[in-house]
Amino acid sequence: MNAFAADAAAALDPVAFGRRVEFVAEPWQERLLRTIASRVVVNCARQVGKTTTTAIKSVHTALYRPNSLVLLFSPGQRQSNEMLRRCRAVYNACGRPVKAKADSESTLELENGSRIVSLPGTEGTSRGFAGARLLILDEASRVDDDIFASVLPMVASDGQIIALSTPWGRRGWFHKLDTDLGNGWERHKVTAYESAQYSANRIAQIKAALGAYVFASDYECQFGDTDSQMFNTELIRAAFTHNVTPLEY
Ligand SMILES: Nc1ncnc2c1ncn2[C@@H]1O[C@H](COP(=O)(O)OP(=O)(O)OP(=O)(O)O)[C@@H](O)[C@H]1O
Ligand SMILES: [Mg+2]
Repeated sequence: MNAFAADAAAALDPVAFGRRVEFVAEPWQERLLRTIASRVVVNCARQVGKTTTTAIKSVHTALYRPNSLVLLFSPGQRQSNEMLRRCRAVYNACGRPVKAKADSESTLELENGSRIVSLPGTEGTSRGFAGARLLILDEASRVDDDIFASVLPMVASDGQIIALSTPWGRRGWFHKLDTDLGNGWERHKVTAYESAQYSANRIAQIKAALGAYVFASDYECQFGDTDSQMFNTELIRAAFTHNVTPLEY
């Protein structure tokens, strides 16, 4: 492929762009990099490469779609800053094809008008951003419902939201989005078994070291009961029946 064709491929395809920074995407990462669905929920195991993959998607957006605002959101500023550091590493590795205008701990601004901003996981402090082309919500199951509601208006009507997380019990918006069918969100699921980062041996070691609950949640992407539940979900489900007509007020 000549240089022009390679540039064009990288501009059009985030997977080809990834290869330029030595990132050979796994099949699930290819699907995530290429999806154009406006609402995407990714229920995934630990350490499968979600931060790396979303960093590539973020930098690709910022470089090749001028004037893009990309917001990186997680339960804490430190973690969001870490996401931005990964973006910066991708930006440096690809040779900074567009120059940086400003580069701080929480913002990478490019001369094409694009910005990648890391946000604290609190309500209020994040207000003031609007029209985002891409919003990445990392560790999404740990982001409170009201905070999730407060970040949604920051996204442009044609913008994309990608929420990624390991499960954290049957609670909250992340669980609801991933389990309610027909809500318009595109679902991706990546257990440790589907990730090239895990060999059968590594999985066996982790399984032996962890309790069944944590393993099922963190590596098999299962939503279990929460620690604070007095009755487990199966018992609660069993207490309901369609055979009884509800009392009318
Ligand atoms: N396609 C890939 N090729 C090579 N290495 C990869 C690939 N995908 C992920 N990795 C490696 O897997 C490791 C975990 O990546 P990353 O930190 O992005 O995962 P994560 O899902 O965000 O982890 P965590 O659950 O800790 O947040 C890193 O060492 C990363 O380089
Ligand atoms: Mg991560």
